[in-house]
Amino acid sequence: MKIIKKVDKMKTYAKIMKKENKLIGFIPTMGYLHEGHLSLMRTARKQTDTVITSIFVNPLQFGPDEDFKKYPRNIKKDEELARQCGVDVMFYPENEDMYPEGFATYINVEGLTEGLCGKSRAGHFRGVTTVVMKLFEIVKPDIAYFGQKDAQQAFVIKKMIEDLRMDITMKIMPIAREESGLAMSSRNAYLTKPEKKEAGILFTSLKLAEESVNSGEKDPKKIIKKMRDSISASSASAKIDYISIVDTKSLKEVRDISGEVLIALAVFIGKTRLIDNIIINTEKSEEGYKNVGTPKERNTVQGRA
Ligand code: PAJ
Repeated sequence: MKIIKKVDKMKTYAKIMKKENKLIGFIPTMGYLHEGHLSLMRTARKQTDTVITSIFVNPLQFGPDEDFKKYPRNIKKDEELARQCGVDVMFYPENEDMYPEGFATYINVEGLTEGLCGKSRAGHFRGVTTVVMKLFEIVKPDIAYFGQKDAQQAFVIKKMIEDLRMDITMKIMPIAREESGLAMSSRNAYLTKPEKKEAGILFTSLKLAEESVNSGEKDPKKIIKKMRDSISASSASAKIDYISIVDTKSLKEVRDISGEVLIALAVFIGKTRLIDNIIINTEKSEEGYKNVGTPKERNTVQGRA
């Protein structure tokens, strides 16, 4: 596996791959890799010729009171894990090379970024789309892989690709989970052992919501109340940022549940803000999305193409 640190070198490498007609698969990350990231890399390995991953903790997407400085980092371990997944290139740029002095150009997707995490993390998605656009421009991927774990992020990037008519196919992959159902995340490293146990309630509440929908409940308010009650009852330290049920196209809250909806939440367990979600398609309940992705079940999970 090659490690490339300079933007110019990465561009040259990508250009050579293009000339050789190699299909480039790309997985942008902020590192501290876990099974969620690795599942994207393994899929890219199967589907493309050249697999490139980037590790860059992007300062632009963190708010002033957020965890940019303490975001977990372990580049040596990341190198080893990426190598084991058959990644060809790890792009590991420096801040000054990505954002040279005077940098003043930003990408902003309107509308989809207003609700959910956009509400409590002002400027976050502008930071995400700016860096992803920049990484796309450097790496020139044919297929880019993202996780449903950050569902709003994935929908926002998809919109950017469509609006700008970029020649990139985007694949959104299922959420990798711990045995407890907790969605894997680099930020889980912040959780103490008891907090980690408590955090399992997030997925339990999403499953509860899914069961309610499957048994015919159509009122989002009732479902959200059920979820809130179950979280508060099981976790003393949980502070709910939001629980929302939105249409997957507009990301606007729905009045009643029909078609495809995203049930998304952000909850602080102690000081750590965790997000999770499920997508439910009421019209395809038999063979619709299976939102489970624990190690045992992951092989049966469907990805969103
Ligand atoms: P990061 O949180 O490192 O995630 C990188 C990619 O891995 C994202 O597409 C994310 O959705 C996916 N991912 C994370 N946890 C996952 C899980 N449990 N199951 C499946 N996929 C998972 O998301 C970012 O970095 C950044 O915002 C980035 C896109 C790199 C821009 O800076």
